[in-house]
Amino acid sequence: MLNFAIQTARDAGRVLAERFGRALEITNKSELDLVTESDLASERLIIDRIKTHYPRHAILAEESGASEPADREKESDWRWIIDPLDGTTNYAHGYPCFCVSIGLENKGRMEIGVVYDPMRDEMFTAERGRGAALNGRRIQVSPTPTLAGALLCTGFPYDVRQRNQFARHFANFIMAAQGVRRDGAAALDLAYVAAGRFDGFWEEGLKPWDVAAGALIIEEAGGRVSNYLGEPLNIYTPPVVASNGLVHEEMMRVLAS
Ligand code: IPD
Ligand code: CA
Ligand code: CA
Repeated sequence: MLNFAIQTARDAGRVLAERFGRALEITNKSELDLVTESDLASERLIIDRIKTHYPRHAILAEESGASEPADREKESDWRWIIDPLDGTTNYAHGYPCFCVSIGLENKGRMEIGVVYDPMRDEMFTAERGRGAALNGRRIQVSPTPTLAGALLCTGFPYDVRQRNQFARHFANFIMAAQGVRRDGAAALDLAYVAAGRFDGFWEEGLKPWDVAAGALIIEEAGGRVSNYLGEPLNIYTPPVVASNGLVHEEMMRVLAS
């Protein structure tokens, strides 16, 4: 199933890359939240593949929501969690930072995670208990021991204007860390924590499809993923703090201040 997820993410990524930079039909889901025809084309490809190969599996996809197999006798234990284009605002502006994210959950536990960046041809993968990889080579989180030496990343949720504690957290992290970035594709940000490019990440208001694959890839790369209280992450109730493990407690203290 990992190979299936990898191949599907690669093909969906090709759909995104082929249309990247062209004039696109863009629809607003809310004032700041967009959807393009590429989101929909990528999602269609992924869902068609899953329905062909795993017709008994359930699906949760950003643009079309939750679906159970049509002929089910009972609810499926397996559920694919899909973000067909993470980083839509970047994509719509021609900023080449976006990805496809595909996770597979069994009885509520993530088993497989794949995040694919078609611009750099980087495929981040993990299977529970088998480690994490980038283009087939093992990856690990960074050894950075303190927040003062850490490069962090965050995201601004679409409803950031209603979240006044975000500005406080952001200001506090700028003061405490070596640097803070905002790349605009949460699944890719998480994959970068797994690969040791970022030492930590935080964001509130994410959705299951933003974090499902990336969280497993971080855990399998030796990192830690939690909510803002330090409890194990439930992908259905973000906020998310993700790190190399070593700077996690310091990050939690900043979020509590
Ligand atoms: C968004 C991106 C962004 C994050 C937002 C997400 P989308 O996903 O991951 O980095 O800050 O909270 O909703 O809409 O581009 O798939
Ligand atoms: Ca997303
Ligand atoms: Ca998306």
